[in-house]
Formats: sequence, C-alpha cells, structure tokens
Amino acid sequence: MSKPILFSGIQPTGNLHIGNYLGAVKNWVTLQNSGEYDCFFSVVDYHSLTGNMTAEERREQITRTVIELLAAGIDPEKSTLFVQSHVPEHTELAWIFNSLTPMAELERMTQYKDKSTQQAKNINAGLFTYPVLQVADVLLYHGTHVPVGEDQVQHIELVRDVARWFNNRYGNYFPETDVLLTHIPRVKSLLEPTKKMSKSKGQGHVIELADEPESIANKLKKAVTASEGEEGSPGVENLLLLLKEFGSAGDYTAFSAAEKEGTVRYGDLKQVLAESIATYFADFRKKRAALLQDNTTVTAIMESGAKKAGDVAKETMDRVRKMVGVR
Ligand code: AMP
Ligand code: TRP
Repeated sequence: MSKPILFSGIQPTGNLHIGNYLGAVKNWVTLQNSGEYDCFFSVVDYHSLTGNMTAEERREQITRTVIELLAAGIDPEKSTLFVQSHVPEHTELAWIFNSLTPMAELERMTQYKDKSTQQAKNINAGLFTYPVLQVADVLLYHGTHVPVGEDQVQHIELVRDVARWFNNRYGNYFPETDVLLTHIPRVKSLLEPTKKMSKSKGQGHVIELADEPESIANKLKKAVTASEGEEGSPGVENLLLLLKEFGSAGDYTAFSAAEKEGTVRYGDLKQVLAESIATYFADFRKKRAALLQDNTTVTAIMESGAKKAGDVAKETMDRVRKMVGVR
C-alpha cells in the first residue's frame, strides 16, 4: 500500500524562526518520523523571486535554509528534501494552472494584499500569481496533506479549487488536499504581539532558531508585555505559550499561576524563557554549525533530493501535457 503524500515548502528568505518552527517545521519532523507519509519538503526559491532580495543573498540563503531544515530534524533518508528550482516542472505546471485560475480568486488572497502593502514599490505579477505556483508545488506530487501555519490556509484552499477546475475540464487526475495545522498555528511577534511573528518585520520581532543565548535574552528583554488600554495582554500570553513549548512543565505552571494572581515578574519570566529556548535549540545550533562547514554533504543531499522529486514531477507532467492536449 502506498502512503498518503505530504508536501510542504518554505521560502529561503531568512533564517528559520520559532514561528516557522512551531507552526510548521516541528510538525514536519514529527510527521516524517511517524512513518505514515511519503514526505516532500521544498525550499521554494522561485517563490522568493517575488520579494526584494538580491541574487547574492538568495544564493546564500537557499543553502542555509536546506542546512537549517536538516539541523531541525528533516532526514533525507526518510523524506525528499529539495530546492524548487532544481525541478523545472514546478513552473511549467504553474503556467497550466494560471490558465485555469480566475483573477478574482487571486485578488482575494490576504498574503497578496499584505505583501502589496509591505512592498508597495514592487507589486509584480509574480506576487499576484504566487499562490498558483504554490498549487503546482503540491499537486505535482499529488500531495494530499500539507502541514503549514495558519497564514497559508487560504492558499491551500486554492489547491483544492484548482484541482477541481482541472479535473472538471480535463478529466479526473488531481486529489483533494487537506491542510494540517499545529496547536500553535500562529506565533505572535515579540514587539507587536497582536500580529504574527514574521521575518519581514525585522530582527527584534523574531527569535531565530540559530540565535545565540545572549541574543535570545536581549530580544526577550525588549518583548512587549503590557499593552495600554487592552484587556489581558497578548504579549504575556505569547510568552507563556512559548514557555509551555520550550520550558519545563514546572516553570510553566508556576508562571501561569503567578500571571493569574497578578504577581508575575516579567523580568523573571523572560529570563527563564530565554534560557529554555537557548537550551532547546543547543543541538540545532551545533548541527547547523557543522553543516555550514560541510558543503559536500549538503550538495549531495540537494542533488539526491532533486533527482527523487524530479522523477515524480516528470511523470506528472508527461501525463498533464497529454491531458491538456499539447501532446
Ligand atoms: P515562510 O517563512 O513564510 O515561508 O513560512 C514557512 C512556514 O512557516 C509556513 O508554513 C508558514 O505558515 C509558517 N509560519 C510562518 N510564520 C509563522 C508564525 N508566526 N506562526 C506560525 N506559523 C508560521
Ligand atoms: N507560501 C508558503 C509560505 O509563504 C511557502 C510555500 C510555497 C508552500 N509552496 C508551498 C507551503 C507548498 C506549502 C505547500 O510560507
């Protein structure tokens, strides 16, 4: 019996942060290790062309993202880990899906609207059709399970829509896809705790998995706790959530009880949390540092991932070209 196919992707736009980790990557590792899925994980470099990075930054970041996924526990013996542009069928299938997708569906996408505000001087057509490339990523492998953070749910709904439009027009071929969320699908920013933690907001907003202990402590010192005129505090809630994930059960129980009683000292909470996060990712930092020195291993992993993914992608595209009538 073949296993259900799981696909997910991440842009090479910066180091992994704890939002990526708790919303997606930690779950990728758990799902991979469950042995229940045939897993594909992709560093989606073509998606990152829609942003403002330079070519040099991108080149470096692609490899670094692969390294960080390996250090976080993605195992190339168990999963297919590859770089999107190494498999050219992604963009070919995206073109076919572009021609099936109504403009109005893409105009509704909240990530497109957000990014258009963030990079108002660079609202390129790629930014608009970005979700269609994402649909191609998943369906090229017939992915039925997509573990992502909450901000991606709308895009995965489009995967279902496009599969349906394709199947109705050309014959039944693509499966129905479901999103897999974690219990923390949206980690909040340290400095603006009503918004999601995101690399695009700036360094002070995120804790990176690779951050050194002092850096984690410094960022947490500046984290917002009390917000004027608001009921409760989303900042404190976020910190407690992080303590629950990264700290000991005892610390979590003690600090959440103190918070309820109004006796909590935020300085202490931040210090304990900083130590817990630093310890949690000590092994990650070590593995990452070793892989950064080991170009040969990383290159070999990328090549073998591209080959495995490419074999599946070729089969799908051979079939799709026939179905749409260009062969
Ligand atoms: P990105 O870095 O935008 O390519 O995102 C990679 C993965 O991390 C996606 O599945 C996102 O949904 C997830 N993610 C990004 N930021 C957060 C966050 N603040 N909370 C939870 N998940 C997130
Ligand atoms: N758009 C996703 C993000 O910004 C990354 C992504 C690209 C992706 N293709 C995908 C996620 C396919 C899941 C499946 O996080």
